[in-house]
Amino acid sequence: MEKLITIAQVPEHVGESVTIGAWVADKSGKGKLQFLQLRDGTAFFQAVVFKPNFLEKFGEDAGAVKFDEIKHLGQESSVYVTGTVKSDERSKFGYELDVEDLTVISASEDYPITPKDHGTDFLMDHRHLWLRSRRQQAIQQVRNALIYASYDFFRDNGFVKFDSPILVGNSAENTTDLFETDYFGQPAFLSQSGQLYLEAGAMALGRVYDFGPVFRAEKSKTRRHLTEFWMMDAEYPFLSHEESMDLQEAYVKTLIQGVLDNARPALEMLERDTALLEKYVATPFKRIPYDEAIDLLQAHENDDDTDYEHVEHGDDFGSPHETWISKHYGVPTFVVNYPASFKAFYMKPVPDDSTRVLCADLLAPEGYGEIIGGSERETDYDKLLAKVKEWQLKEEDYDWYLDLRKYGSVPHCGFGLGLERMVTFVSGIEHIREAIPFPRMLHRIKP
Ligand code: 4AD
Ligand code: MG
Repeated sequence: MEKLITIAQVPEHVGESVTIGAWVADKSGKGKLQFLQLRDGTAFFQAVVFKPNFLEKFGEDAGAVKFDEIKHLGQESSVYVTGTVKSDERSKFGYELDVEDLTVISASEDYPITPKDHGTDFLMDHRHLWLRSRRQQAIQQVRNALIYASYDFFRDNGFVKFDSPILVGNSAENTTDLFETDYFGQPAFLSQSGQLYLEAGAMALGRVYDFGPVFRAEKSKTRRHLTEFWMMDAEYPFLSHEESMDLQEAYVKTLIQGVLDNARPALEMLERDTALLEKYVATPFKRIPYDEAIDLLQAHENDDDTDYEHVEHGDDFGSPHETWISKHYGVPTFVVNYPASFKAFYMKPVPDDSTRVLCADLLAPEGYGEIIGGSERETDYDKLLAKVKEWQLKEEDYDWYLDLRKYGSVPHCGFGLGLERMVTFVSGIEHIREAIPFPRMLHRIKP
């Protein structure tokens, strides 16, 4: 057989005869013509089968049998198609294939996901097949572009990849959302974030980052929560909290630009407003202290278009508050220096105000809400130990983490970005469940 090309490579072969391995996503036509919508993961495009060409090439009988087979091909049948690539102004892709031969690899019958509308539950039950659809393919391409842009950013900024463990003996964020497992007779947990280990890495290697799956046994049923998601944590010594936000801003801009550069057709498929994405890259992000955010929320709580509850200084934000702030400025917004009471034990207090900590959540615009949580870390051994006790964490679980403050403690900051939150935002989709190949949520672990 001829060497195969992919559909994405088709534009380089106009006028040539090529062979492609693909699936028949859809089919239409009548009489002597059949139009096959082919997909191979790289793109979709149309192949046209004209019966007289088959009769001429294979003879009356054999040609008619072959054409008949194509006419009856079921959705998602796999095929090798050989044909000549033609430019086609009318199609979105810009090319089509004039089919000369087609071999069925495996016929498919009664494919469950048809072009009609299916409910979300049905699609989620068929996630293993749903991933083949145009929209799902586009979202995964956005995800992929974000992953590559992330690696590019860290390499270009002097970071070392430092893989943190997934099985851990202590919590990184809180003790309520941990998945527990049995580790040879001892309790162990699935990691909520690699951060604490990255802090050890930062003291060994300088700028470090990790990127891997993390787990939260949260019973949250929202469009923003997964129980298993991919987190990119970074940690760096000798930067201030302000400089840390500068770094995060540069990172998020690089991620958005990476998708614009490398997955534009996917953004088009998703009908994402790319002018907005370009604006986020070009405009400085907003930074607003937590207490100003509360003032702002209070000032607007009786507006016609608000539907959040009253918040007091010292309260945590609920999703509706986050959504409102994230719509208010029209650009990604850091909410800075939250109350210590509902943030993690490792955050360093604001000098002169021990009720607030040096942290920031980055809220994506358009109502998408938090995509990054970051902070400056407590560097003092005694203060950190006091926090461990105050949070009622087991001191012996954190002895190694406390050691980092014993032997050459230095100022350091870090942050964690939730990949699926970023995919949801950049893709412009409604719900996080489509941002990961196989979502794990409160009531879903299959497929
Ligand atoms: O804000 P979080 O909990 O911060 C940390 O875990 C820090 N240890 C990170 C660090 O400083 N290295 O989580 C970080 C990000 C959030 O901003 C959000 O994007 C995402 O992880 N995230 C979730 N994504 C999907 N489903 C969930 N249940 C998530 N919880 C957090
Ligand atoms: Mg957070």
